[in-house]
Amino acid sequence: MTQTSTADMIAARVPGYALTRDLYCSEQTFQDDLENIFYREWLFAIPSCEVPKTGNFATMQVGAYPVVIVRGADGRIRAFHNVCRHRGQRLCSKANGSTPKLVCPYHQWTYDLDGKLVYARDMGDDFDASKYGLKPVHCIDLAGMVFVCLAQVPPPISDLAPTLMRYLAPSGLTDAKIAFSSTIVENGNWKLVIENNRECYHCGGSHPSLCRTYSDNPSMTAMDGPDSASPDILDHWKRCEAAGLPSRFVNHPDMQWRLARIPLLNNAESYTLSGKAAVKRPMGTMPFNDAGSLLFFHYPNTWNHFLGDHAIVFRVLPISPTETQVTTNWLVHKDAVEGVDYDIEDLTHVWLHTNDEDRQVVEENQKGILSPAYEPGPYSTIQEEGVIQFIDWYCGTMAQRLSPKPIAAE
Ligand code: FES
Ligand SMILES: [Fe+2]
Repeated sequence: MTQTSTADMIAARVPGYALTRDLYCSEQTFQDDLENIFYREWLFAIPSCEVPKTGNFATMQVGAYPVVIVRGADGRIRAFHNVCRHRGQRLCSKANGSTPKLVCPYHQWTYDLDGKLVYARDMGDDFDASKYGLKPVHCIDLAGMVFVCLAQVPPPISDLAPTLMRYLAPSGLTDAKIAFSSTIVENGNWKLVIENNRECYHCGGSHPSLCRTYSDNPSMTAMDGPDSASPDILDHWKRCEAAGLPSRFVNHPDMQWRLARIPLLNNAESYTLSGKAAVKRPMGTMPFNDAGSLLFFHYPNTWNHFLGDHAIVFRVLPISPTETQVTTNWLVHKDAVEGVDYDIEDLTHVWLHTNDEDRQVVEENQKGILSPAYEPGPYSTIQEEGVIQFIDWYCGTMAQRLSPKPIAAE
């Protein structure tokens, strides 16, 4: 039996409806997603404060590719394929750490933090070490958020970079530290993880603690553009921008990324059970405590919340057709002291619970979709506009990249 190709399944999809089972679950589509999306797009990797000093490194796995991100002696953050140039050992196996040089654990070939091979024992007189530096991966630090791209020629990031840097500057990410980090595996396809994030239709039923401060009204959180925002949002932007905070909705024309500052419910200051700030020492330069949350989405793998007292950054990486890793980092001012300026339980309660609640709905969603009886249903155009945008972006991007190349005339 021949399997229908991902391109054919996407061509046959009904816009405004969820995808078919194989687009969420098949090994073939998973490989197509890796090759056409995750190996080609800019991906959020780490907050730069995860590697604050020379020699600090962090690793991540993008499909088949192990990647290491390291801060060099010149202060620059670089990314490399985490693969030794001798016989291919993975160089760094830990999630993060610190090292003066990158030393392969197998035969101790040793690389400088800029990737140059500086030591390889007994390789003979004609061995040319300059040919065996680590293979670089494109890497860019935008105001404290580090992105990597595995493509030979990455897509342009010049449309995002200046806007993101301007919006993030008051959030103080470059003066931050990681207060808490969580990595979970959700037993669901990566697209189900993103879809679930892109709507709050489920929030009332799933997220009691988040709903204390985060509005589940779609006109507050899933704006289609600056002109469709509710009067509450327009007032919030006006007030924030008058105080010098970039806040208005901005987006890439195809919705790959979006930025907007939203107010929290009842003038809450932060995502805590009380609505009060979780951290006494503010982050960045917010002009008032109820500036709300700056939301930043970038497909395919990140969503983020930047508040006056802390920030929460999320990274999504696919593991298999039905497994997705979600890493969440809570960032606070670098000089904030745990137990003095913040209580870790108060800081992390809402999003640790929210993540776990989202994991449960994604896993149940995946189980239902695995049934042969599953049939794609319609998205709500009132509540799930964000999901429709994401699925349109995914299908448009995949259709373009999977389309057969014209055969050149002889
Ligand atoms: S594989 Fe790395 S030193 Fe041999
Ligand atoms: Fe959720």
